[in-house]
Amino acid sequence: MKKHVWLVIWLVSLLLGACRAPEKQVVIGVSQCSEDIWRTKLNAELQAAAHFYGNVEARFASADDDSERQIAQIGQFVADGVDLLIVSPNQVNTITPAVEAAFDAGIPVILFDRKIDSDKYTAFIGADNVEIGRILGNYAANVLGGKGRIVEIQGLEGSSPAIDRHNGFAEALEAYPGISVVASRYGGWLQEGGAKAMQEFLDEGVAFDAVFAQNDRMARGAYEVLPDPSGIPFFGIDALADGIQDVIDGVLTATYLYPTSGDQVMEIAMHILSGEPFERENKLESILVDGQNARMQLIQEQVTARQLAMVEDLNDKQDEFLARINTQQLTLWLLLALIAVLIGGTVLAVRSYYITRKLSQQLEESTKAKLEFFTSVSHDLRTPLSLVSAPLDRVMADEMKPAQKQTLQVVRRNVDVLLRLVNNILDFRKIESGAFPLTLSRFDLCTAVREWMSGFEEASRNKELRFIGPDSLEVEADMHLMERTLFNLLSNAFKHTEDGAHIQVCVAEEGGDVILSVKDDGSGIDADQLPKIFEQFYQGRNESSGTGIGLALVRSIAQLLGGSVDVQSEKGHGSTFSIRIPRKGRGKVVEQAWDASAFTEHYVVMYSRGDSAQQEAAERATEADADKPTVLVVDDNEDIRDFVKSILEADYRILTAADGQQALEKATRELPDLVVCDVMMPVMDGLAFCKALKEQLATSHIPVILLTAKSLDEQRAEGYDSGADAYISKPFSEKVLLSRIGNLLKSRAQLKEHYLETGESAAAPKESDFLSKFRKLVRAHLSDPQLSVEWMGSELGLSRVQLYRKTKALTGYSPVELVRITRLKEAEKLLKTSEHTVAEIAYEVGFSSPSYFSKCYRELFGSLPAESR
Ligand code: FRU
Repeated sequence: MKKHVWLVIWLVSLLLGACRAPEKQVVIGVSQCSEDIWRTKLNAELQAAAHFYGNVEARFASADDDSERQIAQIGQFVADGVDLLIVSPNQVNTITPAVEAAFDAGIPVILFDRKIDSDKYTAFIGADNVEIGRILGNYAANVLGGKGRIVEIQGLEGSSPAIDRHNGFAEALEAYPGISVVASRYGGWLQEGGAKAMQEFLDEGVAFDAVFAQNDRMARGAYEVLPDPSGIPFFGIDALADGIQDVIDGVLTATYLYPTSGDQVMEIAMHILSGEPFERENKLESILVDGQNARMQLIQEQVTARQLAMVEDLNDKQDEFLARINTQQLTLWLLLALIAVLIGGTVLAVRSYYITRKLSQQLEESTKAKLEFFTSVSHDLRTPLSLVSAPLDRVMADEMKPAQKQTLQVVRRNVDVLLRLVNNILDFRKIESGAFPLTLSRFDLCTAVREWMSGFEEASRNKELRFIGPDSLEVEADMHLMERTLFNLLSNAFKHTEDGAHIQVCVAEEGGDVILSVKDDGSGIDADQLPKIFEQFYQGRNESSGTGIGLALVRSIAQLLGGSVDVQSEKGHGSTFSIRIPRKGRGKVVEQAWDASAFTEHYVVMYSRGDSAQQEAAERATEADADKPTVLVVDDNEDIRDFVKSILEADYRILTAADGQQALEKATRELPDLVVCDVMMPVMDGLAFCKALKEQLATSHIPVILLTAKSLDEQRAEGYDSGADAYISKPFSEKVLLSRIGNLLKSRAQLKEHYLETGESAAAPKESDFLSKFRKLVRAHLSDPQLSVEWMGSELGLSRVQLYRKTKALTGYSPVELVRITRLKEAEKLLKTSEHTVAEIAYEVGFSSPSYFSKCYRELFGSLPAESR
């Protein structure tokens, strides 16, 4: 997990980045004294400029001509910690302390349009209201031709423009003695204020020739109240669109453009905030609007208004656009985060895939190693187990007390269990490595199954074991594997059932397949364990024993036979294990005699080895037993040699050799009656030995039984090609070995009879050749009574002993006897075909004494020579 902390940090920072605060905004508080179109225009310009600077937030507050309210609003801006204040003070005196407080709080303050009575402000921007008053005073004096009465309507009392405009106006009129301001009232900058003032002038009966209102709104209000305004010039200030229109319409004679210039205000604000130099006092220049320039001014005003509206619209669009960009940016970041999560997830998934693969490889390797370990342990166990098994059979064959027998039966059963287990592991390994030789034979599965079930009779004493199926069902399968399957399924059933349980073995045919199943009403298996039940080394829950190889072997067998396994089970209601295989297995069917019981396994058994002195003594003892046929046992494994010897020594004289080379020397020297030989041996293997033995004349007649663990057909064929007379695979049955040896030697004994009857050997053609050579040699020297065996041997390339053993093996007679029989047979021919006397014939066939000839003749043919004539 630690390794992924970086990933988590990265993702969090990514998400934080996506939601990060925008660049620090500057907050500017705009405190307006009034709310009217002039202020609206100014606010729009300020907002547009704020947009232009991008990072400016302009907050607007309007006091609605109420000084108390404005003081409170300024206080609020200060409390909010705005970065700068733009104030248009409602009145000079009332608002001054609030502005000073803000200024003292360190907030830069720009006074706009109106002034306070203090130096505590950062900058001022606005038109010169005294000058405006002055210009309008001069203008009015001109319009009146230097003579007339003027009524004045001032703005808000105490507000700086009202004071300044009044002073400027009065100052200008000083130059016109014919003109006088006859009355002056405050209109509070409002239209109704203007109307009210006018009404008061009328009510008071004030006579006047012109009206000066300090803004256009108040002028309009006054104009509207006057019953007949024609001929009375009205002067105003502001020159917004309405005011200009009033000039065009003749309502106003002139007005003065009172500039808003929000852009310039904001520019100064930005200079202050960014620390750039700025002017403290900024005077806005402007113009007078009258009939001369009103239209042009209106157009300009309209263009400006449109442009401002456009800028506002653009700003709105930009806001919208920026909001969209923000959303898109957020979406993009989220997408990037998602991609990162996906990449991270993929990396983790790939990593975990490789880890899982590595783990499963390791598991596979460890399973393999485990199996190899079990296999080698099994190999090691098999020999000592066999050493227990076969002697046990022998001991059990003896008479003994029932109690002893019972004890030994317990041993027998357990040895069998161990042997089965060991063989299961070895078979499993062989099947898994693809080295298991499949031997298909045709047999009746039902009969076989019943036969195999009998092996469980003992175990089923407290349980009911039943067979269900047809009387017979012929299959072509590997009998050994089928037996092994049934054994494992039954062992499993017996293991998981209590006394009194019912176990059924069923055989059925279904669509060309045969199903062998074992059903029990035992404890059953948990559903979650079912899929693993056939896995190797799998042990069910609550199971302390078992290698977990039995059911795995069943599955391997099923696969090897081109079939499948299945298990149905319900906890508490028993289980049914079945194997389904093709009724006719694929492959060559080996014809073999039906004998299911032959598959009851026999194991190689060895007695403990004695020391070599003991062995030699034993060999000498057997040598003394000269009557017994001699068997040469060849195996590089001393245990095997000893074991085979122990099986044979009761009936045979035993010679031993540890490899083919030794065996060939010993066989050539000793000329045994038979050789039992292993195949895999150092120096010279069994096949080479057998070939060499069969190639040399002296030993070619000796029968050889190859005894080996190699059991594949090709290996068998190889064995026979090398001249072997029989092939027995390990583990072998003791009985089979004894009867094979017996049979081979018996057929040698039959040779004697055959030879006597036919004069020919029934041995292999090569051996008959040898015999006819032998006979030719005798006939060529028939009359020589001195014809010696040594001479004949040397003529035939054999020693005396070799010649003796060979003729004995092939015909049952020694060379001397064979020479005599040949002489007597010739004599018999001569007696029947010639006129020679018995004595003459006796000499002719090499007898030195006629009486000995007659004796021998009667021994062979049962009658005297004379009687044969
Ligand atoms: C707007 C206004 C204008 C006038 C100015 C003086 O609020 O009344 O009409 O010219 O203020 O400050």
